[in-house]
Amino acid sequence: MGRAKKVVLAYSGGVDTSVCIPYLKKEWGVEEVITLAADLGQGDELEPVREKALKSGASESLVADVKDIFVREYAFPAIQANALYENRYPLGTALARPLIAKILVEAAAKYGADAIAHGCTGKGNDQVRFDVSCTALNPNLKILAPAREWGMSREQTIAYGEQFGIPTPVKKSSPFSIDKNLLGRSIEAGTLEDPANEPPEEIYEMTKAIADTPNEPEYLEIGFQKGLPTTINGTTKNPVELIEQLNQIVGNHGIGRIDMIENRLVGIKSREIYESPAMVVLINAHRDLESLTLTADVSQYKRGIEETYTKLVYNGLWYSPLKAALDAFIQQTQERVSGVVRLKLFKGNATIVGRWSDNSLYTPDLATYGADDQFDHKAAEGFIYVWGLPTRIWAQQNK
Ligand code: ARG
Repeated sequence: MGRAKKVVLAYSGGVDTSVCIPYLKKEWGVEEVITLAADLGQGDELEPVREKALKSGASESLVADVKDIFVREYAFPAIQANALYENRYPLGTALARPLIAKILVEAAAKYGADAIAHGCTGKGNDQVRFDVSCTALNPNLKILAPAREWGMSREQTIAYGEQFGIPTPVKKSSPFSIDKNLLGRSIEAGTLEDPANEPPEEIYEMTKAIADTPNEPEYLEIGFQKGLPTTINGTTKNPVELIEQLNQIVGNHGIGRIDMIENRLVGIKSREIYESPAMVVLINAHRDLESLTLTADVSQYKRGIEETYTKLVYNGLWYSPLKAALDAFIQQTQERVSGVVRLKLFKGNATIVGRWSDNSLYTPDLATYGADDQFDHKAAEGFIYVWGLPTRIWAQQNK
């Protein structure tokens, strides 16, 4: 008796997930492996990936285009939450995992599988995100993670695959470990493992080097409806288009590179490089529009909610009850977050230079220092008397 009869495996077409196919069958006695490749806008041709799975021994090879739900149901809520892990990482990789888990679980139901599998190792966050998300969606499914147990080096993995006709990677594979999708690229390992080393220019694909960016600034206007980005320079875009075009426009100015030492859930510090042009700019613009349209207390209270939300998503708890409760709070706050934010893109910076909204709470009559000032200056005296009263009493007692 094997560990499972029929397994749906999250498949990328790489060596590791390809080797998982024969490994699950030969070593763990799985009878049937169905692969599932998700199109998250990573830009890979998925037809060859589909065929490779069949050649590697999969009984069925599925490809799912999930770009639209990825943006609508995962990226957009994260923008409304201004979600930046440790204040910097816009969660491009972390947001994809619960969606992949969801389609794995759905495929398992459709094909009558008793387990799902993935190619994650035991050191990263992604294994946690897959396992916890799958458990949340169907606690009866088994979760198999061969690469967490097989203990093979890269060379051994390739040699193992060769026995089953899995081709050795043609080009000397990149020393970097890269995860990419519509929201950006996450790059680690290789020379980046020394935090003192400057990232080599060649790792970047979505963002230009500053030396190559335009010498003239470009203005960009992003329109939001209830906290969701809907227009670029006045033209309505569907969610996927909007992200794709912003990646282009903003990446062209070298905006969206992040170099950070990050705290993984499993306790390891890792050096990670991200490029996430659209998300970085969208979150900054969205937060700015909130500052115009939310009351001070909601805006300030939301900061704490955002911090918790971001950690939950990073730590694999997308489908948790706390996350659902925070979503409800965040949705409630977005009702009036509509308007336009104007940015100036130049040499690696997206500077917000203007914002406007029909729901603006900014009151010129109160804010102005000009003659038409409506603020009741005399009222300030009584307010300050009451506001400062506890401090005055304390000061008198303590001299
Ligand atoms: N550290 C990031 C995260 O946990 C990205 C990890 C993705 N993998 C990679 N090969 N860089 O979300």
